[in-house]
Amino acid sequence: GCVKATATAHANIALIKYWGKANEDLIIPITSSLSLTLDDLFTTTTVDFSSLEPTAADQATLDGATVSGRPLERICGLLDLVRERAGIDQPAKVTSENMVPTAAGLASSASGFAALTGAAAVAAGLELSDRELSRLARRGSGSASRSIFGGLAIWHAGDSDETSFADPVVDHGFAQEISLVVLVLNSGPKAVSSRDGMRRTVDTSPLYESWVAEHAGHLREALAAVADRDLPRLGEAAEANALGMHAAMRAANPPINYMNDASCAALQAVKDARAAGFPAWATMDAGPNVKVLTSTKRAAELEAWLQSRLKDSVPGMDTVVAHAGPGLT
Ligand code: DP6
Repeated sequence: GCVKATATAHANIALIKYWGKANEDLIIPITSSLSLTLDDLFTTTTVDFSSLEPTAADQATLDGATVSGRPLERICGLLDLVRERAGIDQPAKVTSENMVPTAAGLASSASGFAALTGAAAVAAGLELSDRELSRLARRGSGSASRSIFGGLAIWHAGDSDETSFADPVVDHGFAQEISLVVLVLNSGPKAVSSRDGMRRTVDTSPLYESWVAEHAGHLREALAAVADRDLPRLGEAAEANALGMHAAMRAANPPINYMNDASCAALQAVKDARAAGFPAWATMDAGPNVKVLTSTKRAAELEAWLQSRLKDSVPGMDTVVAHAGPGLT
């Protein structure tokens, strides 16, 4: 029989990005990506295959609010994959609590789909390896493939459902030495979804191909930096990769601009922090927030420095210091 299960997954931030799909249906990315799973930002999801009438439709709530439309369709799509694999057809009741500011570029879809995958698989009676969970979570949202793992994770682009999955990066504790200062500049919903933004960038941006061409070098540098525990080298690769991605986005037609005035002020403040001797490199995702890669040792000091630096130009800015977090539980 089918039961009920709960799982928790943490958000991750890509240091070397995924932006663009080779296969939209299977979510096979054009580039591999490298991420850090975070401690304080997570989603806890319960999937219950036993409480609805057999003919009912799937139901979902997020932080107590009913989920409908496209977000519900994506959840149902993942549940269908799990049901198909388990040979069941009961509808599910999904209850999800987010400890991540939703849709603000803090990767709520990553923790959300990783937690949904973990809970649905157990509730359906499946016993899946981490790799199988990563492949399934990928079908919900690409970045969710990486949130199955704690610390640093690499999502191998692959070229098929079987070969596109994340793996933990062997780092001998280096993940604990690095942290992210998240500058929360706008926690409102993003204007263009990752899904649409990616498609438009791939289809129309004249800079997309050159970003992809540079990407391999960025990833190689970042992995070498992790192996050498070399934060500046990792930071340089991460910042170049993220800024290149945003340049490619802005060159799309019509342009996609996730940066606002506050983001630009924050990027400048990160440069200034570096000039003042801090380890500090910026990364940005599909939203205006700036995440600053730094050392765990100096994270609190850098957070205070950035707050004071930006207090006039970005009034009301929130900050969160995030450290390496665990994988799916
Ligand atoms: C900019 O994983 O949210 O955060 O696969 O379409 O659901 P879908 O996209 P999603 O994209 C994340 C994009 C990014 C970079 C990254 O996390 O690698």
